[in-house]
Amino acid sequence: MRPFVQRNAAALAACAGAMALLFASGAAAEGTVNALCSTDAGWCEAAAAAFTRETGIRVQQAHKGTGEIGAQLRAEAANPKTDIWWGGTGDPFLQAAEQGLLEAYRPAYINDLHDWSVRQYAMSQNMVGGFYTSAIGFGFNTELLRRKKLHEPKCWADLAKPEYRGEIEISHPASSGTAYTIIAGLVQQMGEDAAFDYLKKLHRNVTSYTRSGQAQAPNVAKGEVAVGVSFIFGFERWRYDKFPVKTAAPCEGTSYEVGGIALVKGARNKENAKRYYDWLMSPAGQAIGGQVGSLQSPANKTFKPDPRIPPMSEVKLIKYDFEKYGRAAERKRLIDRWTREVESQAR
Ligand code: F6P
Repeated sequence: MRPFVQRNAAALAACAGAMALLFASGAAAEGTVNALCSTDAGWCEAAAAAFTRETGIRVQQAHKGTGEIGAQLRAEAANPKTDIWWGGTGDPFLQAAEQGLLEAYRPAYINDLHDWSVRQYAMSQNMVGGFYTSAIGFGFNTELLRRKKLHEPKCWADLAKPEYRGEIEISHPASSGTAYTIIAGLVQQMGEDAAFDYLKKLHRNVTSYTRSGQAQAPNVAKGEVAVGVSFIFGFERWRYDKFPVKTAAPCEGTSYEVGGIALVKGARNKENAKRYYDWLMSPAGQAIGGQVGSLQSPANKTFKPDPRIPPMSEVKLIKYDFEKYGRAAERKRLIDRWTREVESQAR
């Protein structure tokens, strides 16, 4: 496995520093766990460092989009290099479970988890746990919108209006679990053909498709793009930090994620992977999200979550069919159709 790869130089430097500290403290003596992490880089790093401090087990961890990791595990299947995969949207995890790439596990904290988390265990024969939940919506830069004389979008229908041409950013469904959650949600909400008609209209307004759904919040906050479509909590964090950002939960209703966590089949460091898994599901591991500003609703209900987490009860959620849209064939079919009918269109 490559040493802890990060998406930006600052994160890479921080990571290199952490690794040096670990070696200096002799943590390697307790062994290693090889992890892949698809949630916010800050949570991935902070969790690895805290776990190592507590147990002495060294965490070799890479951070990538959920769809990218699904593809990596398929490529590694004959010779697995990963022990545990955590964070990121649940659908690619369910797909990996169906493809025989994961191993069943019920963590020490199973009785402390919300029902929506336990349902993901039940649905996958314990191969995929529910790590957190959060809803899809829009985030927008209020200063940019004002300057461009654009309305604040409230509904999916707004985003398809010609006035938003070149003003919207979203992620790419092949690499990003966020983008798949959006597309699968619209298909369930509108019906498949109507959703694809809508996605074609939206495409005309999209300025770029990023590799990960974690890009939209910082890009909107820094004024690089006016409107982003991703998980609502990501934008909220920047709003709390006083950037000119507001969010909207789509008026027609929206999809949501139940994030995943799983042991990889054939893991070489299985016992250490189980310890990391249990720790990530414990109040200590789950609270790290809030501490680093990753504001999904945590699965463990035995501690007081960060008060800034946007309540799911205030969002009109669709009845997302995780079993159907987590199936490998369905995910592939929808992404292929999107590539053929939407991405290929001129903008
Ligand atoms: O950490 C932010 C987050 O939006 C998660 O809630 C989600 O599970 C993950 O990123 C998805 O990332 P990607 O779009 O890169 O697969």
